[in-house]
Amino acid sequence: MDQAVIEANRKALLKAQQGELDAVLMYTRLADVVPPDDAAVFRQLAAEEGHHASAFHHYTGEVLQPKKTKAVMIPLLYKTLERKTAYSLISGGEYSAGNKYKTLVLTFPDVQSVLDDEFRHGDMVKALL
Ligand SMILES: [Fe+2]
Repeated sequence: MDQAVIEANRKALLKAQQGELDAVLMYTRLADVVPPDDAAVFRQLAAEEGHHASAFHHYTGEVLQPKKTKAVMIPLLYKTLERKTAYSLISGGEYSAGNKYKTLVLTFPDVQSVLDDEFRHGDMVKALL
């Protein structure tokens, strides 16, 4: 990939990398508060989001730290809302992430597999209900 193309898209790539890292922490924390069968799925999703973060790190070369906001908010929502409502929000977030990658994939074709994963994640979380 041409370095100039990476530079032109650096902001979007860093945003994507940050979002993936935040998702790793969020799913890890969520796994700590849900029933064991759900926890296994969320741990798998955390691992896959980690692979996504690495894919973006490959372009940016920057080491980022996860932001804790969603990692605090989502388990709290799980505990205060109905499980169905919380999981619907999470699956919606995955579909929204997938849709956001539709622009990036035009320049970075390998982002397609990340995009596909986000839609699969949305379906997996929905399937828990
Ligand atoms: Fe992801």
